[in-house]
Amino acid sequence: MKDILTAPFLIDFVRTLTNMYRLGWDERNGGNVSMIVDEEKLLPYLNPRKVLREIPIGFAAPELAGRYFLVTGTGKYFKNVQYDPAANLGLFRLSKSGDTAELLWGYSDGGQFTSELPAHLMSHAARLRVDPAHRIVMHTHPGNLLAMTFVHTLDEKEFTRTLWQMCTECIVVFPDGVNVLPWMLCGTTSIGEATAAKMANARLVVWSQHGIYGAGRDLDETFGLIETAEKGAEIYMKIAHLPRLATITDEQLHLLEGRFGLKVREGYLD
Ligand code: 13P
Ligand code: ZN
Repeated sequence: MKDILTAPFLIDFVRTLTNMYRLGWDERNGGNVSMIVDEEKLLPYLNPRKVLREIPIGFAAPELAGRYFLVTGTGKYFKNVQYDPAANLGLFRLSKSGDTAELLWGYSDGGQFTSELPAHLMSHAARLRVDPAHRIVMHTHPGNLLAMTFVHTLDEKEFTRTLWQMCTECIVVFPDGVNVLPWMLCGTTSIGEATAAKMANARLVVWSQHGIYGAGRDLDETFGLIETAEKGAEIYMKIAHLPRLATITDEQLHLLEGRFGLKVREGYLD
């Protein structure tokens, strides 16, 4: 067996979390990330029959039974992940019944997966239904997106259109738009179900006054999605209180749609 700390998927994961911390998105234990790991990528590093612990997940996700997940630990600080991946992360297989995490590596101090596991697993299931290549769910607390939920309408079309108008690239990166949940109690199956429902037609879901969820095929794509939305929100927070002398018009957004062959969210442009 090779050392799992040398596995490209683990190195990529640790580097991404370190970068998220560097950007100030993940204060203290804020944020959590999960990645579906395909079995062939895992087999050189782990024996899938060697289960270290069985941890009930508190709900069932039968659609994901048998899949492997690399998931941040609850209460763990992103800033520490690079120094001790085994204590801050865990890799488990979801049991046949879909209700138990069969731990194969990590959570080495006796810890367990993030309190937001319902939102992660339910979002994975929702995204896999629309995209078989989907692999990543990322939750984080970027300051400008969070700030925007205090001063902007939470109407999804309006919220999306504002972000698209803030930087030319926004509509190119997330033509499917941004869905928005009102404030809800986090760490529950209810917010998990609500998030997954919102993931059916968009890869970004804002949790008002809390943070954002992003979904994608790999870590770079998912990180880039949130990074771009956060840039849009940053521009908005810089200009919202100033007289607006120019904007990106719907006509110009249509030009981008044509130039980049985008599938823009139905009904969002005039
Ligand atoms: P965890 O430490 O359980 O991952 O929770 C952090 C968080 O961001 C809750 O939404
Ligand atoms: Zn959070």
